[in-house]
Amino acid sequence: MHALKAEQKKELIRSAFLAQKRAYTPYSGFQVGAALLTRDGKIYEGCNIENASFGATNCAERTAFFRAVYEGERDFLAIAIVGKPERAQEFQYCAPCGICRQVMAEFCSPKEFQILLPRSEEDYKEYTLEELLPLSFTEDSMK
Ligand code: THU
Repeated sequence: MHALKAEQKKELIRSAFLAQKRAYTPYSGFQVGAALLTRDGKIYEGCNIENASFGATNCAERTAFFRAVYEGERDFLAIAIVGKPERAQEFQYCAPCGICRQVMAEFCSPKEFQILLPRSEEDYKEYTLEELLPLSFTEDSMK
């Protein structure tokens, strides 16, 4: 188990808040940012990118994962996710959707991968992937 240091968590959370500002959300106005940490300390950010054909929308978490995987990354330790309506002042805890949890399960260890849900740099909830996606369907399920 790789325990993240407090400073690493803060940096990841700060990155998620910066990524949230990049959101493209003309339809819902709900702006999400994600920051994904690799085992060797790199951070990949993502935002949600909406589409007039709503089903073509990509969530912030998947933008971060797909950017990282494209760059050759396969080993991830944690993700921070933040979101709020464009006009809201305060952030609420923003849990990842089911599709994004499934994408996490493709690449991340259920017991090790940490999911941080911040409202601010100091106030965040923390879960393992297994807590948010128990009994997941993975490659092993098909053996
Ligand atoms: N959204 C995310 O980016 N991540 C989630 O896990 C939940 C939902 C986005 C998709 C859409 O652009 C907006 O939030 C409203 O659903």
